[in-house]
Amino acid sequence: MRGHLIAALDIGSTKTSAVIGEVMADAGRPAVLNVLGVGQARTSGMRREVVTHIEETTESVLKAMKEAELMAGVTVDRVFAGIAGDHIQGMPSLGMVAVGGEEISREDVDRAHRLAQAVNLPPDRELIHAIPREYRVDQEGGVADPVGMAGMRLEAEVYLVTASASAANNLRRAVARAGYGVQELVLEPLAASRAVLTQDEKEIGVALVEVGGGTTEVAVFHEGMFRHVAIFPFGGLTVTQDLVKGLSIPFQEAQKAKELYGAALAQLVDPRETLELPGPAPGQRRHVARELLAHVVEQRMDEIFGLVREDLERHGLLDLLGAGVVLTGGSVTMPGMPELAGQALGTAVRVGLPGEGLSGFAEPLALPRFATVAGLALYGMDRFLETGRGASTPASNLMTRLWAWIREFF
Ligand SMILES: Nc1ncnc2c1ncn2[C@@H]1O[C@H](COP(=O)(O)OP(=O)(O)OP(=O)(O)O)[C@@H](O)[C@H]1O
Ligand SMILES: [Mg+2]
Repeated sequence: MRGHLIAALDIGSTKTSAVIGEVMADAGRPAVLNVLGVGQARTSGMRREVVTHIEETTESVLKAMKEAELMAGVTVDRVFAGIAGDHIQGMPSLGMVAVGGEEISREDVDRAHRLAQAVNLPPDRELIHAIPREYRVDQEGGVADPVGMAGMRLEAEVYLVTASASAANNLRRAVARAGYGVQELVLEPLAASRAVLTQDEKEIGVALVEVGGGTTEVAVFHEGMFRHVAIFPFGGLTVTQDLVKGLSIPFQEAQKAKELYGAALAQLVDPRETLELPGPAPGQRRHVARELLAHVVEQRMDEIFGLVREDLERHGLLDLLGAGVVLTGGSVTMPGMPELAGQALGTAVRVGLPGEGLSGFAEPLALPRFATVAGLALYGMDRFLETGRGASTPASNLMTRLWAWIREFF
């Protein structure tokens, strides 16, 4: 008999990954997710995090989920699924309520939250998160928990994250067609942050920068609060496309050359080292300086980090990053990435590896490209512990999946 099962699904631009874990919550100790199964598949039918071909995306979901279920020896019926893409927007919002000089209750706080969330969203936008930030009681700011305080006026500041409604619906449809329900859509860089950032970093000020395939995602924390999200439609795939153009080689060859010999700083590469790559004509080979490859990578990555820097500066956040930048995503494995990021952003940089809060079969997840899926699973566990919802119900599994499937078609 297993405990409560949490499943996470990250449909990235290049790979789809799934994690199934069991909540281990002993009183007096921080909860841990015991990883039972991990699955991975190549993503098809997505472009820069947006579903473009629903059946192909469904196939990727099925493959990753089945693999995780097989390894775990259990089936699940719902997942915490990641959402990203440059349609994501974040904005702060205030909700103000009168308290009447009495003690502030949980209901007053909920009321202020509901007001802060009651913004008029256009019909093509969907609210993904309303993350509490801080409270003000009678103009006095910086209050972490106002319950029990006395005052006339309570203001709640929340950070609203919205997504394109059609992008969110297509994601849910792709998952439903594979036979799973989406318990919650979770902002991917928020999930990755859950996996790799420490509470101290979030207090001091930190930016998570995830350089994936199709996107680069940024999440900023300061004084323990979620401050900002930004998503840029460039990543490792952009670098590969540059190599296709710059070196006149096919996509697959460019990808392979980048992953085997790529470096994000040309100065790290021995200028005499050469690679053998296919020539323009079939069967032809030619020698290319590894330095040239690194130069192409460096230029594009420098430009991407430049965009991140500009965005952080524009929002007045660059100076708040006392704990610097934490890099995740498949592209940060390249040598020279932390150094280049440090130069471009002017901050301390470290690479984030998931592992904290995980036990069991967690070792295969200890790579920067699994920060999102590991974080989705941990986020799912947190939500389950908070609300009692989100765990899979294995007994009614078959029926639930049948229903999800039927609902999809009628
Ligand atoms: N060893 C490596 N060296 C360089 N790049 C790598 C390496 N391994 C993976 N990558 C690159 O990482 C990218 C994929 O990263 P990741 O798995 O984080 O993306 P994703 O989640 O599929 O996409 P996204 O989150 O952007 O939608 C690809 O562009 C791939 O070429
Ligand atoms: Mg990703």
